[in-house]
Amino acid sequence: MLKMKDILDEKDKRLHEVSKDVTFPISDEDKKLVKDMIEFLTDSQIEELAEKYDLRPGMGLAAIQLGIPKRFFVVVHEYDEGQFDNYVIFNPKLVSNSEEIIYVGDGEGCLSVNREVAGIVPRYARVTVEGYDENGNQIRIRAREELAIAFQHELDHLDGILFTDKIDPKDPYKNKNLYREI
Ligand code: NI
Repeated sequence: MLKMKDILDEKDKRLHEVSKDVTFPISDEDKKLVKDMIEFLTDSQIEELAEKYDLRPGMGLAAIQLGIPKRFFVVVHEYDEGQFDNYVIFNPKLVSNSEEIIYVGDGEGCLSVNREVAGIVPRYARVTVEGYDENGNQIRIRAREELAIAFQHELDHLDGILFTDKIDPKDPYKNKNLYREI
């Protein structure tokens, strides 16, 4: 079972590494890791389990956050009260996006960033991501709003980019009025 201490903190240089494409079939180790990531993210979003296991709520994790420089991520999206959808995407690529830009009004969060960060991160309102599932089958997923932001946040992790890198500390709310808040 994954614990908070297994997740690299933003000070760790590995989070700025560019992760490498995954080859199929994936290892049993990586299969286990995916299961653990799904379990962690789900538990973290269920209040009593988050408290029990001392987890900070989060909807996404990229492998590099666990020190593994491979291009895959897991997103567990609570689409309805207590209802979760799991997304596991290997070698993901952003293949199309909306022109509309949105941002999280309360600020984005990351399980590797253990502090409050003021500012907004502009993200596409809608994206299509292509990649592979755990079995190496090609997949294509359309996402909007919060889920679209999660995908873009996780894609950035694979390129060694944290959301905090996208905020100008001198002008953290730059161009805010041009974008839609969610
Ligand atoms: Ni993150």
